[in-house]
Amino acid sequence: SARAQAAASRLGFTPIQAFTDSTVHVPEGYEWSTLARWGDPLFSDAAPFDPETGVDLASSDKVFGENTDGMELFTVDGRQLIAVNHEYVNPDINLPQTGGDVTSAEDAQKLMNLQGVTVMEVAEGDGGWTIVVDSPYNRRIHHNTPMRLSGPAAGSDLLKTNADPTGTESLGTFNNCGAGKTPWGTYLTCEENFNGYFGSTDPEASLPEDYDRYGIGLESRYAYEQYDARFDVSQTPNEPYRAGYVVEIDPADPQSTPVKRTALGRFKHENAACAIAPDGRVVVYMGDDERGEFLYKFVSSGVYAAGGGTSTLLDEGTLYAAVFNDDGTGTWAALTEESTGMTTPEIHVFTRMAASKVGATTMDRPEWVAVNPVSVEGYCALTNNSKRGVAPNAGGDETPVGGPNPREANEYGQIVRWYPADDNHASESFEWDLYVMAGNPTVHDDAYAGSENVNAGNLFNSPDGMMFDTKGLLWIQTDGDDSNEGDFAGMGNNQMLVGDPATGVIERFMTGPKGSEVTGITWSSDLRTLFAGIQHPDAPFPDGDGVLARSSIVAIKRSDGGLVG
Ligand code: FEO
Ligand code: CA
Ligand code: CA
Ligand code: CA
Repeated sequence: SARAQAAASRLGFTPIQAFTDSTVHVPEGYEWSTLARWGDPLFSDAAPFDPETGVDLASSDKVFGENTDGMELFTVDGRQLIAVNHEYVNPDINLPQTGGDVTSAEDAQKLMNLQGVTVMEVAEGDGGWTIVVDSPYNRRIHHNTPMRLSGPAAGSDLLKTNADPTGTESLGTFNNCGAGKTPWGTYLTCEENFNGYFGSTDPEASLPEDYDRYGIGLESRYAYEQYDARFDVSQTPNEPYRAGYVVEIDPADPQSTPVKRTALGRFKHENAACAIAPDGRVVVYMGDDERGEFLYKFVSSGVYAAGGGTSTLLDEGTLYAAVFNDDGTGTWAALTEESTGMTTPEIHVFTRMAASKVGATTMDRPEWVAVNPVSVEGYCALTNNSKRGVAPNAGGDETPVGGPNPREANEYGQIVRWYPADDNHASESFEWDLYVMAGNPTVHDDAYAGSENVNAGNLFNSPDGMMFDTKGLLWIQTDGDDSNEGDFAGMGNNQMLVGDPATGVIERFMTGPKGSEVTGITWSSDLRTLFAGIQHPDAPFPDGDGVLARSSIVAIKRSDGGLVG
């Protein structure tokens, strides 16, 4: 069509239709292959993946973990390294002998090993992209990897435990969802639903009131507390205060200790999108993915200068929460002792409560933030909020319709955009609009039809992952309802679209396999390959019927070798 051709001229591809099958689709003139799958060896002493039983315990910290999510590519000494998150595990396919139940310390250990972060060298050969097995850069960071706690909450009583009376050393990173990359070439991995890893061996234990707001309770997801007192809140009540952070990892140094940056706040961190203010201060935008929670940013006190010191830039600064006004203006409210009535460590451990104190705007589940490299703008995917008005999040604020959250039963989601005052990401005020409201104009003729840039050819719901390419095009990944029925008719499987903020045009670039979400995106050094993550696919992806489905990273190229970003 003329519309598709016009879009192709700006976006560089011919949009594809929706699909409902069990594979990946890309536009004509593009091809895809699989780079890495759950269980693929990073080291030659790992056992090969068993197509029926998966990964064995002895190999579980030497392989690509499960449920790939946010990722970034780094060029180090001419080598290409991908740091990538493994958000969670599916116990049923990792513990087939027990039907998915954690029945021993060994079972727990295996699940701990298969989550966290992988750093791996990747290379393109005649057979396509592969992991460089045994690269000196390959590394697994999991639920027992030593970490350092730094910033304003480090060393405070809240972070002290019997095992760490200093409050500065912790083990592991949890539920690593989205990611980010600092201007100095380190990886930021974001701890999202960390609450689910903690439980109580004492069913009568009384829990701190502040647990509620974060969803920490007596029952855990993987029963770790049965085998390790660290996860037992009846024995180690401060341990949950040592999770829920942004963690900085240096992919160039496999011996380096990851650092949990408490200055960036404790909440269900989605991703961390960095920008540099005109004066050199570092700005990190962050979403807290829970209905009725907030959008945040951190502004460093120090300035970034190429070649200058960076070790404390993410330790000292100001944390802000966003206040959106209905008139299209907004402010960043600083979380300080004066504005919150809380101590500095409390602000950085109970960040949600601090943001409530300054009247931050409750949002429809802030997922990824993306910063436009060619225009001073930020974007946040507000994935959906179908339960507005049922009840506020435990201990949280009411979630009225308004501002960038304009629809009552919001099962489609929207993307809010803000324009910092004075073209300065460190500014304390901004103007905002909605870049897109997802919807379905083939089903609805009201607000649920979506914004004008949604049409029968680009239907989608639940925007989640987002990343700008070097040209200022916004790549949008979805994690929504793939039933293809009712309100979701015509949307097909979860997918990746490309938007041109200059025109508003959004077109579909890729579709994922049935059952999956598409999450995580980065590019090769030469921008001729785009890597995208496929999380929790149904069989037969990617290896066929009768074998386990595997979360995977796919590599997408133009058939003519041209640029993809
Ligand atoms: Fe792990 Fe909010 O996505
Ligand atoms: Ca997400
Ligand atoms: Ca999501
Ligand atoms: Ca997910």
